[in-house]
Amino acid sequence: MTAPKLGRSTIAIHGHAEPLKEHDPVVFPIMQSSTFVNAVGSEREVLYSRYGNNPNQVAVARKYALLEGAEDAVFVASGMGATALAHLAVLRPGDHLVASRWIYGGTQRLFDEEFGRLGIAVTYVDAMNPRTWRKAVRKTTRAIFVETPVNPTIRVLDLAPIAGIAKEFGIALLVDSTFSSPINFRPLEHGADIVITSATKYLNGHSDVIAGAIAGTRSVIEEVIRLMRVWGQSIDPHAAWLIERGMKTLAVRMQRHNANGLAVARFLEKHPGVSAVSYPGLESHPDHEVAVRTLDGFGGMIGATLKGGTAAAERCLKRLRLFVHAPSLAGVESLVSEPRLTSHKGQAKEQLAAAGIAEGFIRLSCGIEDAEDLIADLEHALAR
Ligand SMILES: Cc1ncc(COP(=O)(O)O)c(C=O)c1O
Repeated sequence: MTAPKLGRSTIAIHGHAEPLKEHDPVVFPIMQSSTFVNAVGSEREVLYSRYGNNPNQVAVARKYALLEGAEDAVFVASGMGATALAHLAVLRPGDHLVASRWIYGGTQRLFDEEFGRLGIAVTYVDAMNPRTWRKAVRKTTRAIFVETPVNPTIRVLDLAPIAGIAKEFGIALLVDSTFSSPINFRPLEHGADIVITSATKYLNGHSDVIAGAIAGTRSVIEEVIRLMRVWGQSIDPHAAWLIERGMKTLAVRMQRHNANGLAVARFLEKHPGVSAVSYPGLESHPDHEVAVRTLDGFGGMIGATLKGGTAAAERCLKRLRLFVHAPSLAGVESLVSEPRLTSHKGQAKEQLAAAGIAEGFIRLSCGIEDAEDLIADLEHALAR
């Protein structure tokens, strides 16, 4: 008898759902141990937490692979670690990477400051124009990287044409889908080869862990694990346990993030102090059609440009009480930040403008509080 296909909420709670025996703990315990006993003379796999085969590391990776619909997955010590290792798994010195111009500032720094040193060339292309992607492909191109939904402007890319180009040229498509979580969007279903996520965000969801994850085919994940072992990037067992616990509520958290995101975006759209709102669930969003077609939810992230520029943004941020002014996002508590001073710090005005970050732009991460309270908080902060 084949096992029933489980829903995402069930998977997020039970993972592989192996039957429990009498006196088994219901909650998978933390194995806070760096090392594990070996039988003398045994040729069997050696367990060591830097190798990523501590039972907590294995359990969280299995659950995440199931949620993404991937053959395999691995967690590492940060989202940036995941981005770095995923790329190093498919690129060698002399190779070329085509990357979307709309990416997280940290990822851009990795490409600009480190990849050149490793002999990997990067060409940035207009995320919304697949013709420029095709033109950018060279003989040495081995991978395409995109981020969707985009941090911090919440634009949504249609992966299908980009995946088509990757397939045509036989190159890997890597997608950072941190802003959606596998509940709202699963890039592998849309032609991606490798998914990268900052598990610091929605997967863990409680703003108390830094971690990243990569999902894809077994052979890609084996290569990532090989690199993780030699570059020393494994996740701590306690962090793995916390994420595994956080993931149990991922599906219900996302439902609430989606509902609160839409309610807050609709409020901001009508507010006279706000000149632009970017939320894929709004009919006014430039990618609304793509978002409706490809996402299962629009998430809790909103980009908003306040009338009055930087001064208005600072005034609002100082008056907010529930939206905490802090970098990071996607936790149960609402957070807000100014990307020009956080994710895109140090970028010139023109670069910020090209990334869609106008003066007075703030990025809101709607948590799972009561929507009315979040709206009241913003109403107070934006009042003249
Ligand atoms: C889209 C995206 N990718 C990757 C990262 C890096 O994640 P971490 O801070 O866990 O290294 C971030 C962090 O904000 C992000 O927003």
